[in-house]
Amino acid sequence: MSTQNTASSSLPTQRLLAKVALITGGATGIGESIVRLFHKHGAKVCIVDLQDDLGDKLCKSLAVDSACFIHGDVTVEDDISKAVDFTVKRFGTLDILINNAGLSRAPVSGHP
Ligand SMILES: NC(=O)c1ccc[n+]([C@@H]2O[C@H](COP(=O)([O-])OP(=O)(O)OC[C@H]3O[C@@H](n4cnc5c(N)ncnc54)[C@H](O)[C@@H]3O)[C@@H](O)[C@H]2O)c1
Repeated sequence: MSTQNTASSSLPTQRLLAKVALITGGATGIGESIVRLFHKHGAKVCIVDLQDDLGDKLCKSLAVDSACFIHGDVTVEDDISKAVDFTVKRFGTLDILINNAGLSRAPVSGHP
């Protein structure tokens, strides 16, 4: 009898093999989960985020040859253009863009 849970064992393990994904806001939260899931499924991932420490740390927890981080603000067109160029230079192509970055709650008064 299998000890694996039914939901995960029914999924192919490498659905994104050889794909390259750029994920904005990928350093934490939902974006981080997307980064981890895509990487688990074989994708090479590039994270764009304002939070350099968390982005770098996440990359190191994955694999240096299949994950990278670039600082970028999605409200600055030039940052995103640079992130796309960086991803293509690093991994040779770009297949998937996840535009996840954003605010999930109203800022507290006096804080950004
Ligand atoms: N969490 C929810 O319940 C919920 C519900 C509906 C929609 N969303 C949306 O889903 C997305 C992710 O939500 P979350 O809960 O993971 O948020 P989160 O705040 O936990 O993470 C957002 C990430 O985006 C980054 N980020 C924020 N502004 C950025 C910018 N201008 N440029 C680059 N990176 C930036 C942050 O540094 C952070 O790493 C957001 O767009 C949010 O609006 C979330």
